[in-house]
Amino acid sequence: MEARITLLPGDGIGPEIVAQAKRVLDTIAQKYDHQFETPSCPMGGNAIDEFGDPLPAETLETCKASNAILLGAVGGPKWDDPSAKTRPEAGLLKIRKELGLFANLRPIKPYSELLDASPLKREIIEGTDILFFRELTGGIYFGESGRMEHPDGEKAFSVMTYTTKEIARIVRLAAEAARNRRGKLTSVDKANVLEVSRLWRQVAADVIKNEFPDIEYEVVLVDAMAMHLISRPSDFDVVVTGNMFGDILTDEGSMLPGSLGLLPSASLGADGPGLYEPIHGSAPDIAGKGIANPLATILATAMLLRHSLNLETEATAVEEAVARVLAAGHRTADIAAGGKSISTTEMGDCVIQELSS
Ligand code: NAD
Ligand code: IPM
Ligand code: MN
Repeated sequence: MEARITLLPGDGIGPEIVAQAKRVLDTIAQKYDHQFETPSCPMGGNAIDEFGDPLPAETLETCKASNAILLGAVGGPKWDDPSAKTRPEAGLLKIRKELGLFANLRPIKPYSELLDASPLKREIIEGTDILFFRELTGGIYFGESGRMEHPDGEKAFSVMTYTTKEIARIVRLAAEAARNRRGKLTSVDKANVLEVSRLWRQVAADVIKNEFPDIEYEVVLVDAMAMHLISRPSDFDVVVTGNMFGDILTDEGSMLPGSLGLLPSASLGADGPGLYEPIHGSAPDIAGKGIANPLATILATAMLLRHSLNLETEATAVEEAVARVLAAGHRTADIAAGGKSISTTEMGDCVIQELSS
């Protein structure tokens, strides 16, 4: 098939890990006889430096005219000044909103070979297979915000809002996924305190009662969920939650497989291109050292092949290649548990070798 996959390498380790994912795409194209066009566009801090805009109009247009988008990560200390006019992260929020990418899928399934890379006990992690649905274009990230004078000095606010429609559509997608997995859905909120969560809980319950009476459904408060996620992770199947809760819980969840560098994500809308990225950031502490783990981005590439290009065989081939590389004992520093580690490029080499064999 022919497809255009726009690359947004971004900042920090972004270009290092996207380079490895691109090699994987090239290998897949060659092996399965596809033509992938892979333009690379500025976005994030590098785009602020060059164009004064974290998401230049041309980048957005190229993305819109693509079948899928692969993003590394954006941001870094260089652009962290709180009084700056714009930030790299604003570009990421804008592209999610512009493309209507309301559903962020974040699978967490530890590899059996890596059970000892996690700070958690093996018997706790074993059997874990969770699919998070994080709402991505609403909530506190997109509510009204601002600053005002206040007798104490200044006052700032960021408002969390959700509409019935926004809640229903993400809960519906999550419930459909649960139906095709182990049939269990957990909705996470803070309904004991927040009005917005009380609407979330009410709408979610209605959707489940009316459209998914066959699935097992539970609600859990977000603070308790933070604890359950690392004390009994294998009890969860699909988890659905709002934008900020999903952001926080999934970074916590990365300790189940053992590293942020292992978790991919897919951001999907009702139609149009999907955006695929690792859940981690630009890792300024290790940027430029050539030691970042490229596997999250490579696994995001597998999600891209599956969800946007409908290439299930190719997606599975990439995932199985990653599993074989880990089974063979190859480790970047973040999962080496103090043992021998290989570089970002060497990890890319290992995956490509497995794919080509
Ligand atoms: P981070 O995810 O970049 O890093 C957290 C820790 O995890 C660091 O110690 C880092 O070295 C490690 N890490 C992350 N990815 C890794 C990988 N692939 N291999 C090995 N180790 C890895 O979070 P942070 O430091 O809080 O944020 C840094 C910047 O990234 C901030 O500007 C933030 O806004 C941005 N950010 C961007 C995205 C995105 O573009 N989607 C996501 C999260 C954070
Ligand atoms: C993520 C990141 C982003 C988010 C930031 C960089 C805007 O943390 O993709 O998880 O909070 O959504
Ligand atoms: Mn995050």
